[in-house]
Amino acid sequence: MKSIFINGGKKLSGEVLISGAKNAALPILAASLLCEGKHRIANVPRLADATTFGRILQNMGVTFERQDSDMLIDSTGLGNPEAPYDLVRTMRASVLVLGPLVARMGRARVSLPGGCAIGARPINLHLMGLEKLGASVSIEHGYVVASAKRLRGAHIYFDTVTVTGTENLMMAAALAEGETVLENAAREPEITDLANALIQMGATIEGAGTDIIRIQGVEKLKPMDYTVMPDRIETGTFVIAAAITNGSVLIKNCFPAHLDAVLSKVTEAGAAITVTDGTIQVTGQREIKPLNIKTLEYPGFPTDMQAQIMSLMALADGTSVINETIFENRFTHVAELRRMGADIQTEGRTAIIKGVPMLSAAPVMATDLRASASLILAGLAAEGQTVISRIYHLDRGYENIEQKLSALGADIRRV
Ligand code: EPU
Repeated sequence: MKSIFINGGKKLSGEVLISGAKNAALPILAASLLCEGKHRIANVPRLADATTFGRILQNMGVTFERQDSDMLIDSTGLGNPEAPYDLVRTMRASVLVLGPLVARMGRARVSLPGGCAIGARPINLHLMGLEKLGASVSIEHGYVVASAKRLRGAHIYFDTVTVTGTENLMMAAALAEGETVLENAAREPEITDLANALIQMGATIEGAGTDIIRIQGVEKLKPMDYTVMPDRIETGTFVIAAAITNGSVLIKNCFPAHLDAVLSKVTEAGAAITVTDGTIQVTGQREIKPLNIKTLEYPGFPTDMQAQIMSLMALADGTSVINETIFENRFTHVAELRRMGADIQTEGRTAIIKGVPMLSAAPVMATDLRASASLILAGLAAEGQTVISRIYHLDRGYENIEQKLSALGADIRRV
C-alpha cells in the first residue's frame, strides 16, 4: 500500500494552479444522463471519484472518454438505469444519478450509499423530494427503487440544507412538467455551476445561489459543452499550506470570491492575503493567532476546510475553538494530529485546540479525504519525517497534490 513521506519545515514559495472542482464535476457528469447525445465537460479533475463516476455511467450503457482534463460523454446508449452497490459504496456522490435517471428513463435502481467516516449521511431529503415530484419510491434489498411516468413540478421545502439533495432535485425538476420551487435550497457555488450547465442544456432555472430555486420543466434538453469551475476546497488547502509553512504562494486559476469565509479567517490568523481576479497571494507570518470557527452552509465556513484549518490552529499562539455543525463525526483527524504533538480536546461537535510551538513528525493514518489533507499540512510544518498511510482517500479529491506541493518546494513523495 502506498504512503506519503514528508520531510517538514520547508517554506513553500512559488505558484500553483488549481484544478476543476470535484464537487461541481460530479453532479455535472450526472446531468449528462438527462438527454441523449455527445457532451463535452472540460476541467474535470483527474481524481478517483471522477473515474468511479465514469464507471457508473458506463455500467448504464453510456460511453466516456478522457482527453486531458476533458470528459467526452455519449449518453445516447443509456439503457440500464442502475447504480450497483460495488460502485456506490466507494463514493456517496453516486446517488446524484437518481434524479436524472427517473426524469429521463422513468425509473432508477440505485444502491443506498450507507454511512461513512464523517457521519450517517442519510438521503431521506432526496427521496422526499422525488416523491413530491410524483415518483413512487421504495427501498428494496438495499436499493432505492424509484419510478414515475413523467415527474410533475412541486413545491419542495428542505428541513436541512443539503448540497447533493438540492442538486439531485434540480436535475429531476429540469425535465418535470411545470414549475418546481426548491425552498431552503443549498447556496454552494457548486449548485450555481450545475445550474449554469443545465441552463446551457436548455433548462429554465432561476435563483441558483440563493435559498429559493425556481425551475420550469422542459420536455427535452440538449447535450452540453461546459467548463467546470475551479475547486474552492483545493484552493483553501493551498492557502493554509502557505500560511502553515510561513511561505509565500501565488494561487492561480481560482475564484477568490468563493473563499470569503476561509480567507477572512486565515487573515485573522495573521497571514497577509491579496486577491485579484482569479488569483490569491498568501504570505504566512511566523506568529499564528488563534481562531473561533463554526462550520456552516455556504457562505459560512465550509466543513470541507475544517480539518485543514485545525492543523493551522494546532500551531497558533493561544487557544482556538472549532464547532462542527454540519457532520456529527468529522473529527477523525484529531487523534492523528495528537500523535504529532497537537493539544486538542473534543467534546461532542466542539474541538478545543491549544496551540503548541512545534509539531513533531510521526507515522499517521488518513481516515477520510479532508482529514488526509490536514495531515499533509501538519506534516509540511512538522519537524522530521511524517509518513501518511491510507492515502487513497487523498486521491479521491486532490489532483497531483504531491507534484503541486513539490513544485512549491515541499519535500514530499509517494512511496
Ligand atoms: N442530510 C440529511 N438528509 C439528507 C441529506 C443530508 O439529514 O437527505 C444531512 C447530512 O447528514 C448532513 C447535512 O444534511 O448532516 C448536510 O449534508 P449534505 O447533503 O449537504 O452533504 P452532501 O451533499 O452529501 C456535499 C459534499 C461534501 C460536503 C457537504 C457539505 C459533494 C459530492 N459532497 O455532501 O463534500 O462536505 O456537501 O458541504 O458535493 C468532500 O468533498 O470532502 C465532501 C464530503
